[in-house]
Amino acid sequence: MRAFSANLFALLFLCALASVFYVWSALENRLERHKRGFPVPGRGSSHHGLPVDLSAKTFRALLAVPAAQRPHLGARLEAPNLTDQTASAGNRDYHVNGDNKRSALREGPVKLGSPVEDGIFWSERLEGLLPAGFTEEYARAWRERARTHRIVKLEPGCGRISNQLATFADGTKACVRYGINADQVQGETLTYYLASLLGITNLPPLILSQLNGDGEQWAAVRTRIGGLQWSDRAVVSLTEWISNLTGVVTPAPLRQESGGLHPVLPELWSKTTAELLELMQWTDLITFDYLTANFDRLVSNLFSLQWDSRVMERDTNNLLKTPRGDLVFIDNEAGLVHGFRVLNMWEKYHNTVLGSVCVFRKRTVQRVAELHRRRDARSRLLELYRDSEPLSQELGFLSDEHAGILQDRIDRLHRHILHCKGKYGQL
Ligand SMILES: Nc1ncnc2c1ncn2[C@@H]1O[C@H](COP(=O)(O)OP(=O)(O)O)[C@@H](O)[C@H]1O
Ligand SMILES: [Mg+2]
Repeated sequence: MRAFSANLFALLFLCALASVFYVWSALENRLERHKRGFPVPGRGSSHHGLPVDLSAKTFRALLAVPAAQRPHLGARLEAPNLTDQTASAGNRDYHVNGDNKRSALREGPVKLGSPVEDGIFWSERLEGLLPAGFTEEYARAWRERARTHRIVKLEPGCGRISNQLATFADGTKACVRYGINADQVQGETLTYYLASLLGITNLPPLILSQLNGDGEQWAAVRTRIGGLQWSDRAVVSLTEWISNLTGVVTPAPLRQESGGLHPVLPELWSKTTAELLELMQWTDLITFDYLTANFDRLVSNLFSLQWDSRVMERDTNNLLKTPRGDLVFIDNEAGLVHGFRVLNMWEKYHNTVLGSVCVFRKRTVQRVAELHRRRDARSRLLELYRDSEPLSQELGFLSDEHAGILQDRIDRLHRHILHCKGKYGQL
């Protein structure tokens, strides 16, 4: 009897070990797929009863705090006063600093003197070479067109199933995000407008659209919308689809094992202009993700280091670049709303990432300083959002609590910049 019990225990122990190994392997597979977020057919379910990709959303799935269970239409804004947008004829291609002289300088060797000036700022000359990105004018023209053009096709191609690649009647494309809930569409949209306030032009232009809105914009794809089980009343976001984008690995000075990106880093002197310009965009990305508490980019990599020591060698989540090396910040839905809700869990990682940077773009710092001094982040963001987005009322705006958190993060970022100035300003 004793021998039998001992054998039974041994068997149970082996089974337990096998289960642990199985769960661990499954987790590793999920994390691997998470890195690129490509669509994999037949995934779990979402708040809307949709098939949803839990594997590609490991962090969001892990952290899914029961969102305010509101319908897809958000809280109404207090004072509607939407200004009509005037169309402006825009360049149809992704707009970068197209001027050939600048372009040649970007490709060439560094003959720019010091890459850093006034203690903590990228030099004026470098900043002058920075790609213009999606300029205000370009974005306005795209938004105007995207609001009026009919959508003739909806297909996979923008990540998980609740995102769809839309083709407009003129052949141009956009990524439609239905969002797991309204918070995510709100996060994506308000993050876009915050970037605009800060003069950060790395986010593709965005509009909101209501599936049952006036006009025939969605008429040709009704059957497909039905198949996706999207609610007709939903407000979705559309962002311009950009061709030929590739992945981006986190540069060495921003990896955990390095001492950070600071003005006295000797490597800065041996970098090419193109490398410095990319680093400059990274410093904007880090300040921006800190403000919006977006954990779904560099911060999630830092978190993954706990079990995946080589995560930094792979492409950064939700960051792509054009063939010219201009960074494109996509998938910002974790910013502001969801990011603020789960702040407790991520704050130490946000602090670590921000703490690793002490070089900034002068223009970004000026805008942060202004928002800090005037303490008007909420009203400026709301005004820009209302004036630019006719559906702002339908989707709603940040709660007072979240608007307070945003202002608080602006103040903290400002303090961090002052700290860097104090440390490196006399050099
Ligand atoms: N604006 C865009 N232009 C071009 N490709 C895009 C765009 N947005 C998304 N994609 C493609 O879809 C993939 C997943 O996009 P993402 O928005 O991160 O989806 P998910 O919500 O599934 O994480 C990206 O890695 C990229 O290949
Ligand atoms: Mg993504």
